[in-house]
Amino acid sequence: MPEYSNKMAEVALRLLSETASKILRSQTIEFLYEDILSPLVSFLDVSRVYVFIFCNGEPGRLRSSQVAECVAEGIVPQIDNPRLQNFDMEAMGFTRWMQAFNRGETIVGDIRDFPSKERDVLETQDIKSILVVPIVSDGELFGFLGVDECRKERSWQDLTVFILRNIALLLGNAIERIKLRDSLNQSFWCVVNILSSLTERKDPYMAEHSARVAEISVKIGKRLGLSSFALEGLYIAGILHDIGKMLLPAEILSRPGKLTSQEIALLQTHPSEAFHILKDVQFPWPVAEFIYQHHEYLDGSGYPHGVKGEQIATEARILGVADVLEAIASHRPYRPARTIADARLFLKQSSGTLFDPRIVSIAIDLLDNQKILDPDSSNP
Ligand SMILES: [Fe+2]
Ligand SMILES: [Fe+2]
Repeated sequence: MPEYSNKMAEVALRLLSETASKILRSQTIEFLYEDILSPLVSFLDVSRVYVFIFCNGEPGRLRSSQVAECVAEGIVPQIDNPRLQNFDMEAMGFTRWMQAFNRGETIVGDIRDFPSKERDVLETQDIKSILVVPIVSDGELFGFLGVDECRKERSWQDLTVFILRNIALLLGNAIERIKLRDSLNQSFWCVVNILSSLTERKDPYMAEHSARVAEISVKIGKRLGLSSFALEGLYIAGILHDIGKMLLPAEILSRPGKLTSQEIALLQTHPSEAFHILKDVQFPWPVAEFIYQHHEYLDGSGYPHGVKGEQIATEARILGVADVLEAIASHRPYRPARTIADARLFLKQSSGTLFDPRIVSIAIDLLDNQKILDPDSSNP
């Protein structure tokens, strides 16, 4: 006969499925702990629930730290106990635990039955009974999830052990997923940084210009109501929008005076060149397409394809406005400086013909309120 009723099993399953969905939604490991520990204290009716994680100490030795904890009313928390931070599991007398964890086993029971070295440490935390399960992530021992009972001796029900083991399993999977995502994110930003520093080496003004175009675009995008996900893609497109110019001769990028018609034709290949550089990069947004279209105009008079209106992605239309604004209003050594008023006038005159009127009016509003192209406008 099971030690628990059908009712309890049903509540336990609900707790597990709620925990699973919290774990699936979690974006950071820290939030994950907070989210799942507190319901466990009341559901399992225990004194403490906590997570310890391991890090490598001397070769072959694992050190451990408590990283999260939830306690029942009247129970002394241990999260600030210095003995539980960065300690050597084996030196502290917990070799048996490490061996059990490595076999995927649980440590459970009344601490009166534990070896004296373990008992000495556990008694200082008023623990009478304990249940601890390993957390494994990506095949490696990551840490452990445990519950303490300080108020009475207690025998742990199979159901409690089952819940804790399953939550540890879910935690291990979630940690693996978050670590993988973080490392993917890191390599992704690495690619973006390499590309933009290549631009900078070719032309320092171009890097500065691109960073400002990215910043202005995001401010416009925010006002237009784009999601934070879309804004991230827009920012990257801004940073990389002129990357195609890397393939053009440096002289035509920075030479004062008028360009010849052949030079203009060459310059106008930069969106297509960018498209070819970026089209195989697996961004989560169609960054290559946005950049391909950043010189297309609403009325079809832009390049490279002369597409018009709705055929131009919103992100590309934003980039186009941000690009022209930045280019007109900022100083370049190879041409006379123009003013923000010039940029404003040009945008107004081109609203509805070259540029999307909604985007122009947002850009002008941002300009008029010194939110962009102003030295003090670094905050939105
Ligand atoms: Fe461009
Ligand atoms: Fe540009």
